[in-house]
Amino acid sequence: MINRKKIIAGNWKMNKTQAEARVVVGDIIREIGRFDSAEIVVCPPFTALSAVSELLGSVTNIRLGAQNMHEAASGAYTGEISAAMLRELYVRYVILGHSERRQYFHEDNATVNRKTKAALAAELRPIVCVGETLPERESDQWKTVLETQLVESLAGFGDKELADIILAYEPVWAIGTGKTASPAQAEEAHQWIRKVLATKFSAAASERIRIQYGGSVKAENAKELLSKPDIDGALVGGASLDARGFAGIIKNACLE
Ligand code: 13P
Repeated sequence: MINRKKIIAGNWKMNKTQAEARVVVGDIIREIGRFDSAEIVVCPPFTALSAVSELLGSVTNIRLGAQNMHEAASGAYTGEISAAMLRELYVRYVILGHSERRQYFHEDNATVNRKTKAALAAELRPIVCVGETLPERESDQWKTVLETQLVESLAGFGDKELADIILAYEPVWAIGTGKTASPAQAEEAHQWIRKVLATKFSAAASERIRIQYGGSVKAENAKELLSKPDIDGALVGGASLDARGFAGIIKNACLE
């Protein structure tokens, strides 16, 4: 079986000024600055990227991610940020198609596909998010929903592109609600995602890709979730805003 290195990413969403970001990243570095049994990513808001980038300059195992980007290289897109602007700040990852972007900013799978293409072209690693809503889960449509999101968001890509992509399964009903998917539910969804990918890509590519779980992950539930064979990490919202909470997830779930 393939050994997929766990990847834990903190999505701060619209939280923390630069000054607050400096404090929390300083604490994160103290807590887990030498930890290397997982890939660790922090995704501050755009305005704090530069400050966090400076602090992470000498820390090799904590990497910088952004929460979104525009697909165009430059131009008249007021309020938007390009891949090159992120690269300049040593950003290595970018979250794309988060359910909050889909819900509040009307991003659809085609948008996510264009952004993913642009991120890959700029050598950023996209963290592409998929996940069903509560009504979709309750009406047992979640498999179809995930399949459509995957097929459309990854349209036009082959195994080569997939190798640079990370997926995040974030059931919308578990985000910020304190209601986590059970480890069994999450594992079932991750297995389904791999099955869909094996059909659209190769079995090897589907085995190789890392799939994070996101939705109310915290230090207390991380170990059980991440011990499932197809759950390769976590995309953490609320619990990543506090250094001890974020470090606790990593220590509990990723220490051998
Ligand atoms: P919470 O961990 O706050 O539920 O958020 C999950 C999420 O949306 C991460 O991208």
